[in-house]
Amino acid sequence: MAKLIGYVGSKEKLLSVIEDYIPVNTSIIYECFCGSAAVSLSQDVSKYYLADSQPELINFLGCVRDNPDAVISRVQELLDQGVSEELYMALRVQDRKEGFLRTDLYSRAARYFFIVNNGYNNLYRVNGKGQCNTPYAKGKKKIPNDWKERITETSEKLARNCNGIFEQQFDNKEVLQAVIDSQPEGQTAFVFIDPPYYGTYDQYTKERTSEEFWERLYQYLEDLDEAGIPFLMTNSYHEFILEKFGKWNITEVPVKYTVAADGSKRVKTSEAFITNLSK
Ligand SMILES: C[S@@+](CC[C@H](N)C(=O)[O-])C[C@H]1O[C@@H](n2cnc3c(N)ncnc32)[C@H](O)[C@@H]1O
Repeated sequence: MAKLIGYVGSKEKLLSVIEDYIPVNTSIIYECFCGSAAVSLSQDVSKYYLADSQPELINFLGCVRDNPDAVISRVQELLDQGVSEELYMALRVQDRKEGFLRTDLYSRAARYFFIVNNGYNNLYRVNGKGQCNTPYAKGKKKIPNDWKERITETSEKLARNCNGIFEQQFDNKEVLQAVIDSQPEGQTAFVFIDPPYYGTYDQYTKERTSEEFWERLYQYLEDLDEAGIPFLMTNSYHEFILEKFGKWNITEVPVKYTVAADGSKRVKTSEAFITNLSK
């Protein structure tokens, strides 16, 4: 299935490596930093739960699941106006207006889709007030031709297998409990944890990277471990990460990333795959 949206930090290219970590008897996947949900959407599991702290992303995923035709018609209305920097900027500033969160959910979803597809680096970046500030990609990005099919196919998949889409902090305890409780006897829930990479945290959200964030993540992994829930966390292969999460199994995974908005620059780097599974 073609991906729903291009997304900075998407795990699309590492899916085959990630798959090796998903235990065979997994019936539930929980992505608590879901982004474009690349991992869940690529798997044929009976259930998955998606969560992220970005409200516009979560609204978009919910709208795609509930009414793909409404999302498609709102996006089409935007495309009919012609993709331009003027339209992009007019959409971008909407979240500065009073009552934005009370506007039609599907128009917000179409706005999100338009920005992610036409903004720099497929990034929906926000400032300290949670307002989008991604620069326009100056026509270098464009919505893929099969965007309608992508929305429709993803919608069918979400409607069939996605048990919940939550706007929340990753370590929300009630949602984790709901995941654990919905686990059939003898089967496993697998938690995939893909937080912003060490050193790049402010790309997505108004929260800033801090010692406290990494400590919360450490505590979260401890809790999963104590509850016997298998997890895989991915992050930069950085000294800080290796030290902080060194009590679990860490594998260095080489990866190539595109860094320029027009895809012209690539860097080779390594990711750390951190798991409580024996690897
Ligand atoms: C590296 S991206 C995830 C990419 C995703 N795995 C994919 O394949 O598209 C990290 C995500 O974490 C979200 N995020 C950042 N801080 C968060 C927090 N404190 N709690 C939950 N989600 C958070 C961001 O909105 C972003 O979507």
